[in-house]
Amino acid sequence: MKKNILCIGAGYVGGPTMAVIADRCPDCKVTVVDINSERIAAWNSDNLPIFEPGLDEVVKRRRGKNLFYSTDIAGGIKAADIIFVSVNTPTKTFGAGAGKAADLQYLEKTARSIVEYADSDKIVVEKSTLPVRTAQAMSRILQSNTKNLNFPVLSNPEFLAEGTAISDLENPDRVLIGGMETPEGQAALNELVELYAQWVPRERIITTNLWSSELSKLVANALLAQRISSINSISALCEKTEANVYEVAAAAGRDSRIGPKFLHASIGFGGSCFKKDILNLVYLCEYYGLPEVAAYWEQVVKMNDFQARRFVQNMIGAMFNTVSAKKIAIFGFAFKANTGDTRESPACAVCHQLLEERAELSIYDPKALENAKIDLANAQGRINYCTSPYEAAKGAHAIAIMTEWNEFKELDYQRIFDNMEKPAFIFDGRNIVDHQYLYELGFNVYPIGKKSLVHV
Ligand SMILES: NC(=O)c1ccc[n+]([C@@H]2O[C@H](COP(=O)([O-])OP(=O)(O)OC[C@H]3O[C@@H](n4cnc5c(N)ncnc54)[C@H](O)[C@@H]3O)[C@@H](O)[C@H]2O)c1
Repeated sequence: MKKNILCIGAGYVGGPTMAVIADRCPDCKVTVVDINSERIAAWNSDNLPIFEPGLDEVVKRRRGKNLFYSTDIAGGIKAADIIFVSVNTPTKTFGAGAGKAADLQYLEKTARSIVEYADSDKIVVEKSTLPVRTAQAMSRILQSNTKNLNFPVLSNPEFLAEGTAISDLENPDRVLIGGMETPEGQAALNELVELYAQWVPRERIITTNLWSSELSKLVANALLAQRISSINSISALCEKTEANVYEVAAAAGRDSRIGPKFLHASIGFGGSCFKKDILNLVYLCEYYGLPEVAAYWEQVVKMNDFQARRFVQNMIGAMFNTVSAKKIAIFGFAFKANTGDTRESPACAVCHQLLEERAELSIYDPKALENAKIDLANAQGRINYCTSPYEAAKGAHAIAIMTEWNEFKELDYQRIFDNMEKPAFIFDGRNIVDHQYLYELGFNVYPIGKKSLVHV
């Protein structure tokens, strides 16, 4: 094998990213290690720990040939030429910066493991999303080794989106690699460029200094989330003024400087990244003495929280100011379609708020039911987990669509309506169903940013 590649962290990023590298670079041996032995066992089984379209096929193609999942972190480090670090970097929950700053303890532990087990030089690649200038701390820990070893650090943030991870990895808009502006740093950078160039066109491989690369990932997520919060803020105004957010988004997005993407009004963004990365950016701005910049970006997160609260308030208002003891069907719990990931899912916030109002919930999701059970394990109130949307809606007063799964567009809504309490309500948090059709069936229909269709 030409190169030994190791990835520390077998999560939503490390697992799929390394599978695609193994697939596209058959002359490299790729090993993914994790401290979580259950996760590694799942990667080695027929039941992979995450759902991602196309992932099973890639893993099956390469596993046991040049792709290995293991708990042997020390052995993996010793054997590696290039080490990707793809551990979790959640928001800190304690001490200075709690609630905003990134918790870098997992990253630091990996750096210390590399120092402990390495007995040759290695390129260390930051794949995790990190605050700008983390590579400096990483380098200092790595260079504290007493074995006279060199560990040039590169930043190579991941831009995949869950739900489309495999196609994003196989055909990325861009690959970003940042390196130190030293001969050693540039040599390491060129080595990583060569690896990606095996399947990514050269013009899509962007190289920058380390700090631009680290910061670009935070900025990319902040800008994407900002577009969602922008159109969601306008959806609230549309509901007050009988403007239609679809029409507004289409008209504004037709300007090529604005563009149509990510202007889809909804219950709000979720996922493990947007909120955490924006708060990380907010913390950095505060740290560097830029409170106005911090407040500007923090508002993107506040607007997202407002959208979920507003959705629940609209539900309660529409249902005669009480949902107490009413059964409500929750369609979808994943933070977006085509994933089982529920981290920071708006569905979770909505469910908690409805439970506080003493509603009874029946939740259906095609891929995220197990994660929903974990997320709501400590929630007070009555919750049923259903294996079909028909079961969830049976006897319900209302349906709340939380995830844009395609199957919700194709259900037999006549059958659903017939089995619900009347008047029957549907609150479309993703604007995916045919509102006029549902209204004609007898539903009272509440889209986002569009006039509600109500029977009087
Ligand atoms: N999920 C996404 O869509 C996405 C996209 C781009 C970037 N990112 C970033 O990538 C990073 C990883 O995200 P994720 O969603 O894969 O997280 P994850 O929680 O799914 O996976 C991280 C894994 O790292 C392991 N780990 C933690 N400490 C370890 C250690 N010391 N040694 C070995 N393994 C260790 C954990 O057990 C876990 O399995 C984060 O920084 C995230 O912000 C995520």
